Amino acid sequence: MQANDLDIDFYNLGFELIHTEWMYISDYKDNKWDNGELISFGSIEISPAANILSYGQGIFEGMKALRSKNNQIMLFRPMENAKRFNKSANRVAMPYIDENKFLSAVKKVVLANKRFIPPYDSGGALYIRPMMIGSGPMLGVAPAKEFKMIIFCSPVGPYFSTGFKGIDLLISKKYTRSSQGGTGFSKMCGNYAGTMKPAIEAKKQGYAQVIYLDSVHMKYINEVGAANFCAIINGKLVTPKLDGTILEGITLKSVLELTKKKLDMKVEERNIFYEELFDKNCTEAFCTGTAAVITPIGSITYGNNTRIYNNKQPGEITAKLYDLLTGIQRMDIKDVYNWIEILE
Ligand code: PLP
Ligand code: COI
Repeated sequence: MQANDLDIDFYNLGFELIHTEWMYISDYKDNKWDNGELISFGSIEISPAANILSYGQGIFEGMKALRSKNNQIMLFRPMENAKRFNKSANRVAMPYIDENKFLSAVKKVVLANKRFIPPYDSGGALYIRPMMIGSGPMLGVAPAKEFKMIIFCSPVGPYFSTGFKGIDLLISKKYTRSSQGGTGFSKMCGNYAGTMKPAIEAKKQGYAQVIYLDSVHMKYINEVGAANFCAIINGKLVTPKLDGTILEGITLKSVLELTKKKLDMKVEERNIFYEELFDKNCTEAFCTGTAAVITPIGSITYGNNTRIYNNKQPGEITAKLYDLLTGIQRMDIKDVYNWIEILE
């Protein structure tokens, strides 16, 4: 283990909050953002009538800063997060924030907290959580007039405690996470509150997470908790069509590109009937996300039916994609796509 002056075991991290030293805060008032500043990580004061508290007017992002083998610090496609932040903000009537300002604030937080970035060989990352909340007081259901943008970070290890091993998932017959015309495509805070009880119920039965179906037919795959879904069916990578009910994952977008360009495989973005996942032509399944990276799916259960994939080991294509993606993210493989932004 690399010596550090922090009481953190970087080699055994999970996905729990570890306080760091600095966070960023910027206030929106009188229709404009202030310059923003780094302050010590700690509590903030807001009115009990703040819009975020009653009406959930809030959005967030998830990003990671990584260290390369030669100790550089980098971000993965950070401009995509900045753009998505504004897309989410727009859906819940929150103000636009200049994407370069977003990016520069993220970089400041990372560099101010660089002691907390886990070393390359730990496999960990500094997880960055930018958010915007309706902080202004409001009694009626209408947008706040004041907002706060906050960015904090925490060193993390794998999102699923099993790491790069097949997880067991349960298709929910009861709950959905988003619907047509709703907010499912955005990272609005409220989207996540509704998924907590289904996840607790699934975990009680021994599953790592829930696979949600579409809310109209309860037939087509939507997402896995807070990650996108992919399967290998008839030798093609198949993923649910982004129909407004699914978050447009940056990891997913990168995986689709790697599948086409590096594995020379076909990609299909279409409705996936859950029964297809129980067919022998479906040979692998995995989920993608900043937190989840690429997590292989070991089994999928619907009612009394369970399908086990590859003895719960990562499938061949899943493993190839994982090596390619994490190789680029950790700068072990040449970044021909310009996805990496080196901070120092
Ligand atoms: N789906 C949901 C609901 C998420 O919260 C996330 C995480 O950000 C993802 C998918 C994966 O998106 P990304 O790969 O951009 O992290
Ligand atoms: C992410 O993958 O960054 C997420 O936002 C997922 C989750 C931790 C909410």
